[in-house]
Formats: sequence, structure tokens, C-alpha cells
Amino acid sequence: GTTAHVEDFQFSFEGPFGSYDQNQLQRGLKIFTEVCSACHGMKYLPFRSLGDETGPGLPEDQVRAYAANFEVTDAVTGEDRPATPADKFPANTGAGAPDLSLMAKGRAGFHGPIGLGINQIVKGMGGPEYIASLLSGYHETPECAPEGFPGYYNAVFAAGGFPEECKDEHGNHTVPGSWIGMTPPLSGEDVEFDDGHSNELHHEVQDVAAFLMWAAEPKMMQRKTAGLTGVIFLTVLAVLLYLTNKRIWAPVK
Ligand code: HEM
Repeated sequence: GTTAHVEDFQFSFEGPFGSYDQNQLQRGLKIFTEVCSACHGMKYLPFRSLGDETGPGLPEDQVRAYAANFEVTDAVTGEDRPATPADKFPANTGAGAPDLSLMAKGRAGFHGPIGLGINQIVKGMGGPEYIASLLSGYHETPECAPEGFPGYYNAVFAAGGFPEECKDEHGNHTVPGSWIGMTPPLSGEDVEFDDGHSNELHHEVQDVAAFLMWAAEPKMMQRKTAGLTGVIFLTVLAVLLYLTNKRIWAPVK
């Protein structure tokens, strides 16, 4: 088919009991730092969140050292200084790349069938799946494309330029995806992990996608715990009310 295919990756944070995998978030942070941050900003995420226990869980001194690698303009003095944990990651608009703070929530990965969104009921919204699929969605330029067509062919990216030559007589696309303005950022073995974890492409794309999900939704675990507590509480309450009701009306029956 010619519709872009988003793969349904299994992430540790899926489902009512799912939680972020701290080691995976640390690997994703490393990929973001060494690769993505060259072009992308993450202006809504405070450095201090990197110390969250339900997030990457970096020790305090590491958070401070990490933040100090970035320069920020002090809001009070107007002078540039090394960032502290209280600052946010900088914006980065130099390359025309969108900010990644909320990207995992800003993109829906699953639609269909015929755009009904039924897949989202089954599989979730699929933001991180979209990111992982996009990053592994670069393929050889299709033969139909004219020489020098701007951008990089990506079978998962839907919003980019598309050459007339790759449409049939009804205007239908003959190849999935479109041409994106981002050079393929990952090709496998782009970073080295301290723990020797695999840096094959399909691992890297999931690690950075998981990290971006956390960045967009750092309180997901707390939200799930609160929801679960609520459900348990309401279940117990329902049982008690049922029994109370029986007892109150017992003499009348
Ligand atoms: C767009 C992720 C590295 C430049 C994007 C998008 C995502 C993304 C999710 C949005 C796609 C959409 O609109 O649906 C990443 C990740 C990276 C990375 C996770 C690191 C692994 C880079 C690098 C550059 C770059 C290193 C620059 C050399 C861009 C540009 C766009 C973009 C220019 C806009 C593309 C367009 O709309 O045609 N990136 N990116 N990215 N990125 Fe990256």
C-alpha cells in the first residue's frame, strides 16, 4: 500500500501497569544529547527533571554537571551563563527543526482503518511509535523521483514534499511517505553506551522515542498510580455500599 506504516513497538510504559525503563531513558538522553540536540531544542523540559525517580533518575551531581554543559541567558541579568538544574533545556531553531519537548504527544502514530482512529483504541495514540518508525523510515530514493528533488525520502513522514512524477494518473501516490527536511540522524552505532547495551538502529530509535515520551509526559507514572488508586477505591466503595444497601433493606423484604 502507499499509506505510511507505523510499527507497533512494545514500550515498557504501555498499559495500566507500565512504567518507564530508567536505563532506556538514560540511553535515550544520551542519543538526544549527542545527536538530536545539534538541531532540535527541548525548551519545556527543566534539567532538574532528569533527576526524577520515575524518569532517568540521574544523581543530583550528574544533573548539575549535565546542565552546566549548556549556556543560557539569565532572565534577570541578561547575561549568558552555564545552565543550572532550575533552567530548561535551550530552544534550538537554527536548523529549522521543531522543538522536541512535546513531539511524542503532538504526533499520532495510529489511525486507520480509513482514518476512523480505531487502531488508537487498541494500540494507543502511538506518538513514540511514530518517532521510532520515522527514524527508521529512511529508504533509498524511489526511482520515480526526479534528480535533485529536495529533502530525504522517508516512508513514514507524511507531511513533506512529494514529486508529481511519483503520482499515478489519478494523483495517487505510488510510494509511501514523502520527502523530509531532516538528514537521516541515526544509522546505528551512533552512540556508545557505558553499559555496553546494543546500539543497533532498531534499539536506538526505541530508546530515543521512549526518552521523548518521558520528556512530553514526565508524570505519566504518577498519573497511572493515581488512576489505579482511584479505581481500587471506587471498587471497594461499591462493594461496601452494596452490602450496606442489603443490610438496610433486609427487614423490609
Ligand atoms: C523534524 C526527531 C535529529 C533536523 C523532526 C521530527 C522529529 C525529529 C520527531 C518531526 C517530524 C514530523 O514533523 O512529524 C529527531 C530525533 C533526532 C533528530 C529523535 C535525533 C536522533 C536531527 C538532526 C537534525 C534534524 C541532527 C539536523 C541535522 C530536523 C528538521 C526537521 C526535523 C530540519 C523538520 C523536517 C521537515 O519538516 O521536513 N526531527 N531529529 N533532526 N528534524 Fe529531527
